[in-house]
Amino acid sequence: MREYYARRAVEYDATSWDALDPVEREAVERFVAALAPGRVLDIGCGTGYLTCLLRGSVVAVDQSEEMLALARQRVPGAEFVRADVPPLPFADGAFDLAFASGVYSHLETPGERAVFLAEALRVAQELVVLDQARRSGRESELWELRRLRDGSEYRVFKRYFTADELMSELDGLAVFTSAEFVAVRTTRFEPPRG
Ligand SMILES: C[S@@+](CC[C@H](N)C(=O)[O-])C[C@H]1O[C@@H](n2cnc3c(N)ncnc32)[C@H](O)[C@@H]1O
Repeated sequence: MREYYARRAVEYDATSWDALDPVEREAVERFVAALAPGRVLDIGCGTGYLTCLLRGSVVAVDQSEEMLALARQRVPGAEFVRADVPPLPFADGAFDLAFASGVYSHLETPGERAVFLAEALRVAQELVVLDQARRSGRESELWELRRLRDGSEYRVFKRYFTADELMSELDGLAVFTSAEFVAVRTTRFEPPRG
């Protein structure tokens, strides 16, 4: 995963955001730009494509120095921290809002997801998870073959959600849905019993 994102950094925007239907892309951008300003943490910020739309005092983390280098250029007003999450290197309650786009869907096990949610809600009062929607014919989870422009190939674990599935999993409410995306806001995390 680390090598995949390091190698993908330069082509990331072109192969993800710029490749999207412009109507979808603009809808997501409007949604992110409308999130409440405050002390905001972007978890797994990538190249900062959405970080630049967040308002307030913005801190962004990513495990990839290659991604962060591009994000720093794009969003000079934000603070960037390299961190392999978990843990998040911040105090309890340091943020009003944690935002994670395209990150939660790559967590492979229920245990990893639980730790991610607990950690995000330790440092922030609320968490908004934005991920790709499950359309008909799309599997809910799979190991996708990703081929980069240099010809290298990686298998990447990825999940797709309906709004109901993500709401149920995060014990939250859908705050954005489109053909391609779903976002759910949550303020609660109950560790699984047993
Ligand atoms: C699909 S990209 C999404 C980037 C950005 N949020 C966006 O929506 O354009 C996932 C990003 O999460 C980062 N990432 C993945 N696992 C991580 C982890 N455990 N800790 C920190 N960052 C991570 C990757 O390096 C990558 O930049």
